[in-house]
Amino acid sequence: MKNFIKLISTFLVLLSVFSCQEKDQLIYKNQELSIEERVDDLMSRMTLEEKIGQMNQYNGFWNVTGPSPIQGDAAKKYKDLRKGYVGSMLNVRGVEEVKAVQKIAVEETRLGIPLIIGFDVIHGYETLSPIPLAEAASWDLEAIQKSAEMAALEASAVGINWTFAPMVDVSRDARWGRVMEGAGEDTYLGSKIAYARVKGFQGDDLSKENTIVACAKHFAGYGFAESGRDYNTVDVGTSTLYNIIFPPFQASIEAGVKTFMNSFNELNGVPATGNKFLQRDVLKRDWNFDGFVVSDWGSIAEMIAHGHAKDLSHATEIAIKAGSDMDMESYAYVDELAKLVKSGKIQETLIDDAAKRILKVKFQLGLFDDPYKYCNKEREEKTLGSKEIMDASLDIAKKSIVLLKNDDNILPLKKEGQNIAVIGALASDKTSPLGSWRIAAKDSTAVSVLEGLSVYKGNKITYAKGTELVLGTPDFTTEVKINTTDKSGFAEAKSIAKNADVVIMVLGEHGFQSGEGRSRTELDLPGLQQELLEEVYKVNTNIVLVLNNGRPLTLGWADAHIPSILECWQLGTQSGNAIAQVLYGDYNPSGKLPMSFPRSVGQLPLYYNYKNTGRPTLPGKDIVFWSHYQDEKNSALYPFGHGLSYTEFAYENLKVKQEGKNFVVKIDVKNTGKVTGKEVVQMYIQDVFASVTRPVKELKGFKMVSLLPNEEKTIKFTLSDKELGFYNNQGNFVVEPGKFKVFIGGSSQTVIETSFEIYE
Ligand code: NOJ
Repeated sequence: MKNFIKLISTFLVLLSVFSCQEKDQLIYKNQELSIEERVDDLMSRMTLEEKIGQMNQYNGFWNVTGPSPIQGDAAKKYKDLRKGYVGSMLNVRGVEEVKAVQKIAVEETRLGIPLIIGFDVIHGYETLSPIPLAEAASWDLEAIQKSAEMAALEASAVGINWTFAPMVDVSRDARWGRVMEGAGEDTYLGSKIAYARVKGFQGDDLSKENTIVACAKHFAGYGFAESGRDYNTVDVGTSTLYNIIFPPFQASIEAGVKTFMNSFNELNGVPATGNKFLQRDVLKRDWNFDGFVVSDWGSIAEMIAHGHAKDLSHATEIAIKAGSDMDMESYAYVDELAKLVKSGKIQETLIDDAAKRILKVKFQLGLFDDPYKYCNKEREEKTLGSKEIMDASLDIAKKSIVLLKNDDNILPLKKEGQNIAVIGALASDKTSPLGSWRIAAKDSTAVSVLEGLSVYKGNKITYAKGTELVLGTPDFTTEVKINTTDKSGFAEAKSIAKNADVVIMVLGEHGFQSGEGRSRTELDLPGLQQELLEEVYKVNTNIVLVLNNGRPLTLGWADAHIPSILECWQLGTQSGNAIAQVLYGDYNPSGKLPMSFPRSVGQLPLYYNYKNTGRPTLPGKDIVFWSHYQDEKNSALYPFGHGLSYTEFAYENLKVKQEGKNFVVKIDVKNTGKVTGKEVVQMYIQDVFASVTRPVKELKGFKMVSLLPNEEKTIKFTLSDKELGFYNNQGNFVVEPGKFKVFIGGSSQTVIETSFEIYE
């Protein structure tokens, strides 16, 4: 019977192939056939150069809707495009522009293969959500997924069908400017968020017009750049690689991610772009990844500067052998690959494999069936900045705010009869909240804190900048210039503060102070802001510090003096509205830090899941020979997982029970305060002794619970092999018998604990 069905279906396929050819329809254009069949057919028609063309990605060039260029770089790109030697473009955006380049690819080239159009849709396209680090602080996977969904909705309406996101690099060093683009220091939280973001961008059906291809980046180790200096050397051992760096990438694959981007950094002496172990052995062989890998910008050519390749031809050979499928802007594959094949240095099968992977994704997007499906002018106009997208952006912005401190319950603010002084250049800034990944968002399109506050009419607001934070108009490519001299506004700030009931100081980093290439050695409030804070404090101590920043800062003085501190990151287009709603208590803050805030830069890298060492810290003992600093505590000022609410939560009755191979952990959580609130209940474990030492604590579960005053709920977690095991130094996943501790609480440091044992 089985054989008969097989026979019939082969017959039907042959029939359809035959009838296609009859009607002169090419097999690869036949929507009835499987993607594999279509790819194979197309491949059989392609020349070597056309296949290599698919592996070539160019940045957006001349004014695509204007006349074609006749010389220079743009002219070469234009020529290559017409020959079918370009498979993808990035930074071409807007329906008209995308349509113009797509038209050349589809209508002027021999085989009419559509382009895949990439763009850094990192936390939105034109309407921005909070920076990814801020979103991670929400610990709200549904809201994070929704945010990526909205980003895909907006981007796909302007012709884009591929985003270079999510960045899933774990990082423990706040000096690194790109911590703003990731999910923070923890691999478990990072994995959950990676999964949610990929699902959000890609949905369940890539061929829909409102979903786009996601890209897990940067593979791998980019977040471990030495000294937090961007692009710097990375040297990490097997345990860190497999247990900390890899899991969010694996989670992206579980979510169905179709592309990976490799990385600028070298990993243990071999640049990631030319790293066969990473791309061929781990990603494509061990993890069975069947999508394609794009290089980072120019990273194939950069292997020459790394000291790994002697020239561009050599770099090309290394990259393709290592498994980089697409070349972003190195001009390596397009100019060098064919020669390498012809000289016998490269086997054509490597090209076939890469081109097939790329074509498959284009088929999955449905580009062969309708290359202009993302190019609908009416949809573009209707979608950009739509109410649905704005509402989602406000929702996640509120959820991303973290209440670091609220000593005298200054917050929430009273809604009436107050004289409120607002101070700080960032309070009126409508650009900085957009962050640095905002290529498509126009300047001054964020709601400022002042505008957000002005929605509430019951109080009197006065405003003074106090000091400019930046000089000039910072942009995407140049260094930010910080004001370090002009204090002329201090007097006015102090005078409005003096008579105020409450002072709201909006301080922090400008949006362009974090992001790519924006590492710092100091993590203080930049410029004259610390001095301004201390001066204002002299005349009025009733201060709420509203922070806007793209990374953890060192806030020792503020923590010791300022009663209320609200971490508001860079929250995107709806920033001011979100901040005002939290300040006034219309949204009870529920965010928790995804990264430790250090006491001093000297503590970095700093993370809650450190190892004990042979000489763990012994607080209170006056002995010098233990692992500590002479001049500072080991602990974070604000630890991973920390975040307060306008209410309080009590934890009790922590119990563990074995059920089969799993362990079920239960805890009662009660709202003991006066208002309804949401709490992120966090579960950590410690594998007390193991063949490879394990951290003092590792996050292995979290649940968001909403509780009315006095309400109590029992929260349940299950620990299976997946949570209890780890990768040993051979890269094998093992669960070892012995004692385990379980910790549950509202942060990594405020926990109650119990233990259990896994017997041999
Ligand atoms: C370089 C960045 O490292 C990468 O993350 C980004 O996607 C590309 N540039 C393209 O803009």
